[in-house]
Amino acid sequence: MIFLPLETDLFYYEHLFDSSDNQKLIYDFCVANTSGYGLERYLKELAQSDEKDGSARTYLVKDKFTHELAAYFSLKTGLFTIDAGNGYFYSISAVELSNFAVNFSYRQNHPNAKNLGSVVFADFVLPLVKYIRTFVGIQAIYIYALPHDKLIEHYKVMGFNRFEPEDEKFVHQHVKPKYDEGCIFMYQLL
Ligand SMILES: CC(C)(COP(=O)(O)OP(=O)(O)OC[C@H]1O[C@@H](n2cnc3c(N)ncnc32)[C@H](O)[C@@H]1OP(=O)(O)O)[C@@H](O)C(=O)NCCC(=O)NCCS
Repeated sequence: MIFLPLETDLFYYEHLFDSSDNQKLIYDFCVANTSGYGLERYLKELAQSDEKDGSARTYLVKDKFTHELAAYFSLKTGLFTIDAGNGYFYSISAVELSNFAVNFSYRQNHPNAKNLGSVVFADFVLPLVKYIRTFVGIQAIYIYALPHDKLIEHYKVMGFNRFEPEDEKFVHQHVKPKYDEGCIFMYQLL
């Protein structure tokens, strides 16, 4: 697979199928919040089939020294809509951060590692999306956030925005998939 080399002092990333030991790492992956269990389930049960049918690519972020799985994220192409009135809409080309989670076991083993998700977003997700953007038009990155106030506030700190209620409703009605039922659309322009 063509690969953008990215690493920090502490972490590197791999595509889901890059190492034979990834199966075991995925098996041991867990999330802290029960409300995030869908993210654990996705990695364990759905990520591989999405790879096979081309609907998403999943990346694992690993500790450079211990090679533990610290976090994972999945990306897919997408778009969102802005109401243009009279039944018309504008479409914004984008990449969806379709799955994003930190491994709770890794956090427990490394209690000093703070804001792991934000670090992974800044050092791996954004650079990768910006790289893809050199080949394909991408104006924004978006996520359907689980509807929890602390998480929504956290995504705002990470640079994501919410639309005004009417515009948010428009996106939810037009392009939000069933999988993300109840989630809140958030975006950031690149
Ligand atoms: C989302 C995530 C990757 C962000 O990682 P991070 O940047 O290191 O930030 P934190 O884990 O400290 O989370 C920030 C805040 O959101 C809260 N939060 C995160 N995921 C949550 C969830 N699924 N449900 C409720 N609250 C959640 C955290 O409790 C934390 O609140 P606090 O500051 O009061 O402790 C990570 O929290 C995670 O893996 N969550 C579980 C999976 C998940 O929900 N993914 C997001 C799907 S949209």
